[in-house]
Amino acid sequence: MPLLDQLAAAASERVDARLQELLKTSGGPDTRLQQALEYSLLNGGKRLRPLLVYATGQALGASWENCDRPAMAVELIHAYSLVHDDLPAMDDDDLRRGRPTCHKAFDEATAILAGDALQTLAFQVLVNGEQPAALLMAQTLAQASGSQGMVGGQMLDLQAEGEQLTLEQLEKLHRHKTGALIRCAVRLGGLAAEAQATTLEKLDAYASALGLAFQVQDDLLDIKGDAATLGKNTGADALHHKATYPGLLGLEGAEQKAYDLIQEAKSSLQSLPGDWNALLELADWCIQRNY
Ligand code: IPE
Ligand code: IPE
Ligand code: MG
Ligand code: MG
Ligand code: MG
Repeated sequence: MPLLDQLAAAASERVDARLQELLKTSGGPDTRLQQALEYSLLNGGKRLRPLLVYATGQALGASWENCDRPAMAVELIHAYSLVHDDLPAMDDDDLRRGRPTCHKAFDEATAILAGDALQTLAFQVLVNGEQPAALLMAQTLAQASGSQGMVGGQMLDLQAEGEQLTLEQLEKLHRHKTGALIRCAVRLGGLAAEAQATTLEKLDAYASALGLAFQVQDDLLDIKGDAATLGKNTGADALHHKATYPGLLGLEGAEQKAYDLIQEAKSSLQSLPGDWNALLELADWCIQRNY
């Protein structure tokens, strides 16, 4: 099995087991909310962000244990962002990870509360750990998730519906709504390994290009992907007049942009000592993927 496949399988098995255990031990007074949390979190998903934490941490010599909590935390934030992203007031989608979206399977209010609870759990997981970098990790995750990061990007995304953005505006939108959490995942892996600031900076250049390419590919798959393989409906961006790279540059232009970004991501790892093969393979996978 190629290195990346092996690591991806191990990472997702590991994070899934821990997330399952977390939900079992953190239940509140209401079983319906609990079911909505399980439904939205333990439902497949590529687990890319946990993989980035583990792959980065491992390359820098961190133990699997020290990567567990940040890997769980970043996936919890991501899962919450998807539940809210699908709500009628946002993208109004009814299919996610091959199943009805949370608000379809439950109801809107439950989906809003499930998102809230997943978000809170993310920070609980980080600060309940005993790692020296726990506080720094929580600060990093907060910055990447909130108005300065993902949530800020989601707001730009909604405001851009039906608007013709410049390339610069579109890049800003994508870097916030998707790029911020991907950068955060890599940084958390670095923090788990107690990496030096210069190493974190180089990793950030990798993650920044990767995060943008990931969303460009997401936009491309919304046009040319297959809903059954993707586990979510295609054509949703056109339906909502979303600002996308293919919309601005055309299919080929967007493909070229994603390819260029991946070359940029890979070359930023060149000056870093160590074995970066997993992250290099992962960069290629980002634009070859069909789900
Ligand atoms: C989808 O993310 C939303 C974006 C930020 C583009 P993923 O493609 O990582 O979704 P899952 O986690 O595999 O479902
Ligand atoms: C989502 O972008 C970014 C998030 C922060 C969840 P999209 O709206 O394009 O993601 P999908 O295509 O619904 O997964
Ligand atoms: Mg969206
Ligand atoms: Mg969406
Ligand atoms: Mg999309």
